[in-house]
Amino acid sequence: MNQRKSRARGKFITLEGVEGMGKSTHLNFISAYLKARGLRVQVTREPGGTPAADEIRALLLNNRREPIPPMAELLLMFAARTLHVENVIRPALASGTWIVCDRFTDATYAYQGGGRKLAARHITDLERMVLKGQQPDLTILLDADVELGLERAKQRGSLDRFEREQTAFFRRVRRVYLARARSNPRRIKLVRAAGGIAEIQTRIAQVLEQRLAAWL
Ligand code: TMP
Repeated sequence: MNQRKSRARGKFITLEGVEGMGKSTHLNFISAYLKARGLRVQVTREPGGTPAADEIRALLLNNRREPIPPMAELLLMFAARTLHVENVIRPALASGTWIVCDRFTDATYAYQGGGRKLAARHITDLERMVLKGQQPDLTILLDADVELGLERAKQRGSLDRFEREQTAFFRRVRRVYLARARSNPRRIKLVRAAGGIAEIQTRIAQVLEQRLAAWL
């Protein structure tokens, strides 16, 4: 890498999809793919990504007796996101490190907007306050039938607070993800997540290759 490129701002790539789409496996693939190109890469996730944000993650995901109203869930997601963006994402990108993040604000539109039925304008307002225009440079949306994903998620063992939701909840989540992909076709690339891992990763590599050709 030449001097100019090593000082350039890093790119911000996010991976999205309903549960059980194989995000973790594909996250590692994306990270390895970028590292093989000589890029400095940091993998992170939401909610979480800093010690304090990980505590908020536990609050959000652990099953508990006390109900968490959708608005509290939304605010906690953005509290965690503020910590993550200010303490990890912005500094990393500024230093030239590429960020590969498991979920970001698209998940809030899908889960709290679609799943929990909160008005999208609340999310847009918080997004404006917290992110100040910071958007991923590329979002890969892994998409397949909700039933397929939930089946895979159930095989992993005990279910967290979200995984316990009904299929209808995840159908609404998926619908919002797909709508966002349609209205942000440059940023959000839809990748079909059905089939073998190698087949899916070939599709992901094609998306990355196309972007890297433009960026590097
Ligand atoms: P995961 O890391 O296993 O995908 O779990 C995170 C859960 O949090 C997942 O069920 C989706 C949910 N989530 C939201 O509801 N809103 C958000 O903004 C984010 C980032 C995650």
